[in-house]
Formats: sequence, structure tokens, C-alpha cells
Amino acid sequence: MGIGRVLIVGSGGREHALAWACLRDAPGLSVIVAPGTGGTAGIAENIAVDVIDAQAVARLAAEREVDLVIIGPDAAAAAGVADACAARGIPVFGPTAAAARIESSKTFAKQVMETAGIPTARWCAGDAADRTRLSGFIAELGGACVVKADGLALGKGVMVCGDVAEAERALDECFGELRFGDAGRRVVVEELLTGPEVSVFGLSDGDRVRTLVPARDHKRIFDGDRGPNTGGMGAVAPPDGAMDAFVDEVSRTVLDPCIAALREHGNPFVGCLYAGLMLTPDGVRVLEFNARFGDPETQVVLPLLDESLLDILTACVRGDVSAGVARARPGVAVGVVAAAAGYPGDVRRGDVITGTDALDDDVLCFHAGTARDGAGTFRTAGGRVLCVTAIGPDAEAARARAYGNLARVHFDGLQARSDIGRPVAAGARS
Ligand code: AMP
Ligand code: GLY
Repeated sequence: MGIGRVLIVGSGGREHALAWACLRDAPGLSVIVAPGTGGTAGIAENIAVDVIDAQAVARLAAEREVDLVIIGPDAAAAAGVADACAARGIPVFGPTAAAARIESSKTFAKQVMETAGIPTARWCAGDAADRTRLSGFIAELGGACVVKADGLALGKGVMVCGDVAEAERALDECFGELRFGDAGRRVVVEELLTGPEVSVFGLSDGDRVRTLVPARDHKRIFDGDRGPNTGGMGAVAPPDGAMDAFVDEVSRTVLDPCIAALREHGNPFVGCLYAGLMLTPDGVRVLEFNARFGDPETQVVLPLLDESLLDILTACVRGDVSAGVARARPGVAVGVVAAAAGYPGDVRRGDVITGTDALDDDVLCFHAGTARDGAGTFRTAGGRVLCVTAIGPDAEAARARAYGNLARVHFDGLQARSDIGRPVAAGARS
């Protein structure tokens, strides 16, 4: 299928990186990002749309005669954007709402993992009526557990508990206080695992999987993995040197069986299946599946990709992607996020951003919460404002370049971690 125009749905750094990669692969491509950011306005056409209004997105794709829709955020997939596009015969890279349940329902994900024999933490799921059973499981674990809201909760629906009282309190918050709204009326309780985390993306046509270089994001706001969780303050790829054998193992034991199970359920998954993994002393365990590219991992994974992303995505949509590990450039990519004052709480908007035009030619700046005002000046417009990504022969070299370039960027209240790409302290908690 010849691709002349693509529509990328979303407005994060991830979508900027997707647009950048598509244009790297096909410089003459026409790219629409909906709604996009201040950064995508410079390389693509931004069109305002509500990403969870599936019909509106599909209508836009039809009106603009796009050849491929690429879905960024989980909420758009869960809202049925792929279903609405498919109903109009528009090729779409991103799962149907039914297949996206692998992310939007943690109970569903655990059931899939269990039937497919995918290694994961021991678990127990239920709602308020199942309290006795849930409490029994918590007691069995000695209170060391993780309580997760079943539904989508903006990445904040996970409570790590050290003892029984804390875990019972977490159940009260879900069931009594409805801290996560309807998303937390049902919960999954899991055994508490330990070890470093790694994200692996598998691009699938519903049958086969092409796997990208692994990445690690840094979720906590402060250095040393302290403070509250955020959407991600930076990422490194690959996290621990060459990991081809590891990626092969993850494909074989995690991604392939998950894709096969979804197909057997009658919900073939076409899109990016993101496995959130923990490397425990007992081996690899899946913490979660996401039905989309990760953010900010995409901002470090795509710059290392040494194949055409556009070719892989179109092969997935056509149903003939080649299985295996995608070729990656040698070296390490480090991406450091600059966040606005107040993040991850309420953020200040409208601060003038300077210096993004003063970066080295081969250093990338992916915009997230930015907007261009009438005079063409970039201003902050969200929590995570931008991500500066640099590649180097090793992590320290990439870090030095990323931080050296980030130092040229300024806006009032800029927050960034200083340890992105460094090994994480095991077990660091706020
Ligand atoms: P999730 O959204 O399920 O990936 O959880 C978010 C974060 O919570 C993960 O990135 C981990 O840091 C932590 N987490 C989730 N599940 C577990 C677990 N079973 N044991 C320890 N930490 C976990
Ligand atoms: N970086 C974590 C995520 O995209 O869910």
C-alpha cells in the first residue's frame, strides 16, 4: 500500500517522535497530528480533535483521505478509534477497543497471562463483595503487595503496600472513597516483586511480532527514584548494554503468547504491545501490558531504530510483518524530560520556552506540553513540556550530551532529574 498521508492521534512527546520517525523514513510524507503540540506544528499539520471521540477521529481521517492512522494514547484505543476507522475502511495501526482491554482491564490482562502461561506476579482480583477473599490473599502475602485499580487511572492506580494495614487501607480507598472512581471499583492485588524494570515494545499484525530495542523509563519525579510517580521523567535505551538474548526471551515467553491468546479470544491485536517487565531474582515477570507505545520510551527507542518505522507499521496493518528483533543503531539513547513548575500536580502554563533552536544538529527535542503563541514563541502548555534525546556510544556519553543540550533550554520553573540513564537504586521508594 502506498502511503502518502498519515494521521497520528495524540499530543505527547511520543506522537512528536512518531511523526519525526515517519518523516525520517519518507521525507515527502504528509503528516497530520491530531491534536498535536507546538513541536509537531513545525513538521506536520496539527488539527484539533478530541482523541476519545472515535467518530470524530475517523471522520477526520476519511475527510483528509489518510492512508494510515497511528493511535498514540491508550484512551483513544479504549474509546474505539481503531474500530471507527476500520468501519470506514481506513487502515489503522492501533488495537480495537476489545483488544485494548489488555491495558484497560488489569483483570483481563491477568486472565490472559494465566491462560497463556506468561510469567507474572501471583494475584487475586475482585470488587467490594470479594473483600474477604482479597483480605485473605493479602494476609497470605504478609501484607507485602501491590493494589491496582482494574481500569485506566492515568498511570496512578497502583499502590505499593508494605504491610497488611497499608494494603487494607488501599482497598478502603478504592472501594469506599472511590479514589480512582469507577476504575477502582474492581482491583487486582498482586505479590510485591523486586528488581529493575524494563519496557519492551512488540509491533504486531495480530499474529507475528517485530520487537524494538528495550528501554527503561524513570517514573518518579525526583533523583534516586524518590517522590511521587509521574508519566515518566526520562528514559534510556537499551538500559543494560546489549540485550538481544533478553529480547528474544521476552518475545518467546511474553509477547508471542500474549498475541496468540488475544487472537484465540477473537480479539486480534494490531498495534504496539508494550510489556512492562520486572527482572526479579527468579526471572522476568510481567507487571503490566499496555496497548500503545510508551512515553517517554518512544523518544529514545525510535531514534535508535535502524529500519523504517513506516514500513513496519504498514506491514502490521497489511498482516505480513516479519517476526524478529528490529535492527537498531549501535549506542545508547538517553532522553531527559523537562517538566513544568508544579508537575506532577497542578502545573503552571504559559511560560516562555527558549533555547530549543540552540541544540546540536543530531540532538532531538520532542515537544509534549508546548504551544506556539501568535508571535510564534513556544510556551509551556502541560506537565511534561519536552524531552531532549541524545545518542552516544555508551550511556554516560549519551547522558553528557543530553544534559549539555538541555542546559541550553530555559523556561521558568523547569524541573528535570539529573540521573536519567543511570542505574536505578534497587527498591528505592518515596
Ligand atoms: P503498572 O501500571 O501495573 O505497571 O504499575 C506501575 C508501577 O508499579 C510499575 O512500574 C512498578 O514500579 C510498580 N509495580 C506494579 N506491579 C508491581 C509488583 N507486582 N511488584 C512491585 N512493583 C510493582
Ligand atoms: N512510560 C510509561 C508509560 O508510557 O506508560
